[in-house]
Amino acid sequence: MYFSLVAGFSLHKVSLCCCDSVVSAVLCVTVVQGQDGWGVTYTSTKICAFKGSTVDIHCTYTYPPRINDQITAVKETYWFTKKRNKEPVDLRTDSDYTGRVQYHCAENSCTLTITDLRESDSAEYKFRFITNQDGGCFTGSPGVTVSVSDLQVRRRSSEQVELRCHSSCNVADHPSYVWYLNGQKMEEERFSLRVSVNDHNRYSCAVKGHEDHCSPPVYPPKLPSVSVSPSGQIVEGSSVNLTCSSDANPAANYTWYKENEDSPKASGQIFTITDCICVYVSCLLMSPPDPPKLPSVSVSPSGQIVEGSSVNLTCSSDANPAAKYTWYKTNGNLELQPLSKESLTFSSIQSSDSGDYHCTAENELGNNTSKSISIDVTCE
Ligand SMILES: *[C@@H]1O[C@H](CO)[C@@H](O)[C@H](O)[C@H]1NC(C)=O
Ligand SMILES: *[C@@H]1O[C@H](CO)[C@@H](O)[C@H](O)[C@H]1NC(C)=O
Ligand SMILES: *[C@@H]1O[C@H](CO)[C@@H](O)[C@H](O)[C@H]1NC(C)=O
Ligand SMILES: *[C@@H]1O[C@H](CO)[C@@H](O)[C@H](O)[C@H]1NC(C)=O
Ligand SMILES: *[C@@H]1O[C@H](CO)[C@@H](O)[C@H](O)[C@H]1NC(C)=O
Repeated sequence: MYFSLVAGFSLHKVSLCCCDSVVSAVLCVTVVQGQDGWGVTYTSTKICAFKGSTVDIHCTYTYPPRINDQITAVKETYWFTKKRNKEPVDLRTDSDYTGRVQYHCAENSCTLTITDLRESDSAEYKFRFITNQDGGCFTGSPGVTVSVSDLQVRRRSSEQVELRCHSSCNVADHPSYVWYLNGQKMEEERFSLRVSVNDHNRYSCAVKGHEDHCSPPVYPPKLPSVSVSPSGQIVEGSSVNLTCSSDANPAANYTWYKENEDSPKASGQIFTITDCICVYVSCLLMSPPDPPKLPSVSVSPSGQIVEGSSVNLTCSSDANPAAKYTWYKTNGNLELQPLSKESLTFSSIQSSDSGDYHCTAENELGNNTSKSISIDVTCE
């Protein structure tokens, strides 16, 4: 006996931002632009990164070696950002960044490293250097725009998975199933069981009459997770892999959706984003589609059917998406109007209800018809 997962469903929001490759070296507060030899060049001007990761912002800068016989010396370098109407300050003294910023500066270059990124770090970062020259202060503007996004897993409260009982050997034509919840026999006799993805109970199943061949206990499959590679900053023109993972048996079919779009963006476990696009994607885990298998019919209670008693006929079939059921009663070769969906319930069965019954299971991919069973109502 083994289990299969029918549909685990999960939405993961991933935002990736657009990147451009404009390099800038503009303007100083006090010194006239570039042509005099003043300038700041940033390696990239837009950087996208995920919450918790580390970002490196790099620049090189130039200045005239001497002005009016005075040799230029750099007195101070720092990075700053202007946020929430605060005056720009050296990031090392900004309490929002305490313990999270480092400068690695060499001659004419400087790298700002921000660790443990927060969404509130999304801002434009600029580099400034101050020299001994009169008014010799230069800011590289525009700066580098950093967008920090969060990788979210959203669960639908109604999210469910279907556990199905499979028998690897041939048993009776219409087997009844027995389910165990944490080792305790359950009332449920259908071949499948719907449970919440948040259900951490152990389930196992067996074919009735063959209870010694229980399936090994299982937990409902874990919600799939999405990982991003590379995990740090995403710069211009690079490709990004989103990988959806879940332990499913049989192997799951992964489909990627863009937020608010019904048609899939891609299928397969890895979704590669090669161009600069802004996307919100979700990852959907599904078992491959399957037309209905031969439906099995169960009669409850089993044994002799006595007039006036309550009887249920249940139809079940392995199908993905789940099958819809219809019951038929045949009188000789005459097929009567469909009777009911899924379960056919007689609260007080009559001898006129005797006859042959069958059901059909149908989904988008096809239909299948059960063997017919004979109901023989005896008088008390
Ligand atoms: C993305 O996945 C492809 C195929 O598995 C692999 O060749 C490539 O190196 C991956 N790229 C990154 C950035 O992980
Ligand atoms: C996964 O499912 C989609 C949609 O049903 C289908 O187009 C695709 O071919 C399937 N992929 C695999 C690997 O089964
Ligand atoms: C009905 O189910 C049987 C057994 O699962 C399968 O072999 C058969 O192809 C199915 N018939 C149709 C019409 O799908
Ligand atoms: C038949 O099904 C109904 C509704 O599902 C249930 O209340 C009733 O107990 C069942 N009766 C038998 C005999 O299984
Ligand atoms: C079942 O499938 C067959 C062949 O695909 C089709 O001709 C028939 O109309 C279907 N029956 C029902 C009840 O949908």
